[in-house]
Amino acid sequence: MTSEIEIKRGLQGVYIDRSKSSFIDGTEGKLLYRGYSIHDLAEKSSFEEIAYLLLYGELPNKTQLEDFDSNLRDSRSIPAEVIEIIRVVKDSHPMDVLRTAVSALSAYDNEVADNSVEATIRKGIRLTAQAPTIVTAHARIKEGKDPVSPNSNLNQAANFLYMLFGEEPTEQEARLMEKDFVIHAEHGINASAFAARVAASTNSDLHSAVVSGIGTLKGPAHGGAAEEVMAMALEIGEEEKAESYVRNILDGGGRIMGFGHRVYKVEDPRARHLQTECQALGDQKGQPKWFRILSKVAEVMEPYQSRGICPNVDFWAGAMYHLMGIPKELFICIFAMGRIPGWTAQVTEQFSNNILLRPLLLYDGPMDLPYVPLDDRK
Ligand code: CMC
Repeated sequence: MTSEIEIKRGLQGVYIDRSKSSFIDGTEGKLLYRGYSIHDLAEKSSFEEIAYLLLYGELPNKTQLEDFDSNLRDSRSIPAEVIEIIRVVKDSHPMDVLRTAVSALSAYDNEVADNSVEATIRKGIRLTAQAPTIVTAHARIKEGKDPVSPNSNLNQAANFLYMLFGEEPTEQEARLMEKDFVIHAEHGINASAFAARVAASTNSDLHSAVVSGIGTLKGPAHGGAAEEVMAMALEIGEEEKAESYVRNILDGGGRIMGFGHRVYKVEDPRARHLQTECQALGDQKGQPKWFRILSKVAEVMEPYQSRGICPNVDFWAGAMYHLMGIPKELFICIFAMGRIPGWTAQVTEQFSNNILLRPLLLYDGPMDLPYVPLDDRK
């Protein structure tokens, strides 16, 4: 009987529902947000436009964008009590702090229990606006500095860099960060979106769903790879050592971070946008070495492309952040900050046509054992 049950481990190849948020074709290397190509969006759209697109289903006109943008700018501050919580947990990993602070913010959001689509979108906008304030406040507190208040003259990406460093970024750096937020904004039913949907499917709430998403994104198999790629580049240290480093890992049965993807079996369409930026930024900063090291790693990994193992979105991201002076523990938070509109869009879809997400496990242990009282156990 049980031998007839087909187990789809890791839910590989299983469709759990329909969605209008994003389309991915892993054999063609294609990604669309709400029908629009990631290539157009990465090159032409602001993060604010993308967040609007994901939350409301269509690109905004100028007035809609202005209203949405000013709503985001007005929503950036976080309660002093949440800053205090950040101080208390400051020695934790920034993703743990972000998760804790988002959870704490639910106590200060008077719509927390309202799961209507309208309220969920409003909460998603607030969380999108507040996440950079949390991440940068923590980064500065950890360094013994005071948090920098949000600057309402700056857009989401520029303001993140401003709050992190205490000075306005260059236009180029702000645009790079924006592009990075755009390409991380949404990505089908990846593990963190699935976790967010599972939480939503119990009729929990957006804050709980985003907390679930953050906790799930943290793992190196999902969002943690950019940090590990940069750690690898630093360990390699120089281009000439890249080949032997990679071969050693592969010969030992290890994995090269920033390569491979559950869905993409050809180019991850997001990767190319960061590859060119990483090279340009390295040249501009007089530090071409990181791009060269990573290019060498990619070259050694080329034969693996025939097995569907190609550079993914995280491969070039780490070096780009490093060149901007962002500490490596924050890399994954950047992914999370970009992804909040995507998680929110999927949670609203889940709420709109809800079904409890509750698969089955095939029990594989002993049955009907005789119970032995504690005193009689050996
Ligand atoms: N380096 C070397 N070999 C690899 C790699 C890699 N990065 N990724 C997969 N493989 C091999 C793996 O060893 C296995 O080989 P074999 O069939 O001989 O045992 C085969 O490819 C299939 O691996 P899998 O783990 O069954 O495939 P998956 O679809 O479950 O894995 C993955 C997807 C992302 C977990 C995996 O590719 C990986 O661990 N990559 C490194 C971590 C990483 O870069 N993560 C970021 C993902 S992109 C960000 C996002 O969208 O979440």
